[in-house]
Order: sequence, then C-alpha cells, then structure tokens
Amino acid sequence: MKDRDVTVAPRGVLRGMREVPGDKSVSHRAALMGALSREGVEVEGFAPGADCASTLRCLEALGARVQRRGDRVRVARGEGPLGAAAVLDAGNSGTTARLLCGLLAGQPGTFTVIQGDESLSRRPMRRVVDPLRTLGARIDGREGGGLLPLSVRGTSLSGGVCTPGAPSAQVKSALLLAGLSARGSVTVAEPLKTRDHTEILLEHLGVPLRREGAAVTVYPLEDLPGGTWKVPGDFSSAAFWITAAALLPEGDLTLPEVGLNPTRTGLLSALGRMGLDYGVTDLALSGGEPLGTLQVRSSSLEGTVVDAPEIPALVDELPILAVAAVRAKGVTEIRGARELRFKECDRIAAMAEGLRTLGAEVEEREDGWILRGPCRLRGGEVDSFGDHRVAMALGVAALTAEGPVRIRGAACADISYPGFFEALSEDTAG
Ligand code: S3P
Repeated sequence: MKDRDVTVAPRGVLRGMREVPGDKSVSHRAALMGALSREGVEVEGFAPGADCASTLRCLEALGARVQRRGDRVRVARGEGPLGAAAVLDAGNSGTTARLLCGLLAGQPGTFTVIQGDESLSRRPMRRVVDPLRTLGARIDGREGGGLLPLSVRGTSLSGGVCTPGAPSAQVKSALLLAGLSARGSVTVAEPLKTRDHTEILLEHLGVPLRREGAAVTVYPLEDLPGGTWKVPGDFSSAAFWITAAALLPEGDLTLPEVGLNPTRTGLLSALGRMGLDYGVTDLALSGGEPLGTLQVRSSSLEGTVVDAPEIPALVDELPILAVAAVRAKGVTEIRGARELRFKECDRIAAMAEGLRTLGAEVEEREDGWILRGPCRLRGGEVDSFGDHRVAMALGVAALTAEGPVRIRGAACADISYPGFFEALSEDTAG
C-alpha cells in the first residue's frame, strides 16, 4: 500500500447524511462461512477495505468459489474439500489470520502456511494456537507458534471445553469454526462477553448452537446452509463520524443503516454518559444483526471513566474515544485496555504521542490513558504508525484543531475505510 500522507484542515460544520461501509467483522465471517457451504453465502454491503479482501484472497487460494461485483460478494465451497496445500497471505488482518487457523485446523488432508505483513507478523498468535492445540490442532510457527508465519496441518479435532485467557472475539470465533469440523462439540467459555457476530451468523444460517451466559457451544456439521442478506454499516467506521459531529460546533449528521449490535456499541454508552446528543430510529434486523439510523448533533461532553468490563464492546473505538476525551470538560480515565498494545500498532502509545503533539494533556498508563480536557488542539504533524484506526482518529482530532494537521502514512485508512479522508474534507456530507 502506498504510504500517503494527508493534511486535514479544521472545520466547524458537519451536516447532512453519511453512509458508512459494510461491517468488517460480519463480512469476514460471511466469507469464511460461505467457504464451508455448498449452497454458498451471498451478501450485499461487503466491507470494501483491504482486510476483507485478504480473507477473500485466502479463501480463493484454498479453492473456494469467490465472486465479487462491487459490494456484492458470493462465496461457496469448491467442488472438492478445501485446498490441499496453500500459502495464505492475511496481509494486515488479524481476523483473517486467526479465524483461518480455526477453520483450517480441523480439515484433514490440508497443509497451509499463513503469513502476514510486518505489523501482523508482530502480533500475538499464541492466544489462538494454544486453545486450538487442546483440541488436537497441529500448528507450528515462529517462537513455538506464537508468531506468524504459522503452518496448519489439518487433522481430525476432538471436541472439548476451551476457556480463553483473555476476552477475544477472534479467539472465540476461531474455536467455534474449528468446532464445526471436530468429532465432538466445542464449548467456548469467555471471561467477558465479546462481539457475537459468529454466533449470530451461525444461528441466522440455521446451524445448531447453544448459548448459556458467556459460554457458546457448537456441534460438528458436514456442510453449512447458505443464505443471502445485506451487511449493516460498520459501527466502528460510524464511530469517527459520531465523534466528529459531536465535537464540531455545527455538527448534525444522519448515519443510516449502521450496525447496532450491543457487543459493538460501547462507544455510544460511553459518549452517552459524557453527554452525547443522539437518537436512533428505523431499527431493523439483517442477517440476524440489529441496525438503525443514528442522528448525532453537536454536544457538550464531560469526562467519564471506562473500565475493563466495558472494553470489549468498544475496543476498536478507544482511539476515537481518546480524541473525544481531550475535547471534553474534565478528566477521562480509560483502564483495563492493555489489549490496545497488541493491535495493528501499540494504540496506547500511538494516540498518546499524536494527541500530545497537537497539544493535548495525556498521561499514558500501561492499560490506558488519563486524559484532561478541554484542550485546544493546534495544527502540526502526527504519525499514523501504519494503523488505520489511529490515522482516522487523528483525522477527526484535526477537524477540531486550530490549524491544519498532516497525518503521516494516512493511506492505511484503506484497511477498513477506503475514501475516509476524502469524505472528511468534503464540504457537504452525504
Ligand atoms: C474482531 C475482534 C476484535 C477487534 C478486531 C476485529 C473480530 O479483536 O479488535 O478489530 O472481527 O473478531 P479481538 O477479538 O482480538 O479483541
């Protein structure tokens, strides 16, 4: 990806309507489940970013049938079993690498190598490899399977009960996908409930599944049923617009068809406590996922505390929440978010550096930040650290600054939201 810098100018007005791209987490899952289905899965609104393109590329390399026309994507199982041998490039996408480990671990006769870019090659894989090994998975890799590249020799997996050490929807989903091809049922008991798109999608397709509190059980299944539906807009992409409309003096934005799965909308709860002026209409369901139209208006925000139990529902929104916090009145404390250090970059350090460069008062903690506001942000030059969510969060901070902000390496926004920076500078949204 070309390492493009972008300069964002301040603005005071943000009105109209903004459609956001389809949900990335749901799109990955729709594609992966399609590859296990002879009938196939077809969705409209497939996420346009590079991460979901990585998943499609890997599935194609495995012999799945993949058709793509704009945002309409169809994936179905190929003629034979999933490819016998392949080298798969997950690019920058942790979800692709980790969920593929689970999907492939229980496919006897296959041998795959999963690799990724520089950032993904630094990210922890043991969290998914260790619990898969308890089911009999044969996975090897750098540092004993802790880092990519990993090799996965598909085998017949046993059933079992897995209790991941940390809350992670990627780990849970990898284990549930593995469970579909195991010899017995697989139960995942999570320490804290994480996003449940995998469960919702399996239920939507009619796959037997048991949910009891924070435990989910799947049963072996020869072939997945297929289906067709529209993927809701990505709440994590909407998060940048929600925050921008709240922070700008003349913000009044309508965001239609945004996914509102409660395991994802923690930012609305946190900003709601801070004083966000918003409303939700047109509630509906698509593919089993709740969605609706969000209306957000300029708001006077005050500081809040966000603690560990709340983190999974806003884990990807913490960089943009940090931006809201430095513009809010009073102190905001974000704790229990050490996980941010293992994302596409160390997001705790990256946001602390970027916001401080713009003049904000940010205290970096091992597991979060203490942010004091309201800070006036000045123009300047900041770094995305190659992380799409850091780049976009700093882009929103720039809208509220007193001078232009240059964001180094802003092209990484294409990972989840191609066209974000162009949209950010448009005169009229919509
Ligand atoms: C994702 C889960 C989250 C999230 C990531 C996407 C998913 O990661 O940060 O962007 O689609 O399952 P963890 O589950 O590892 O926290």
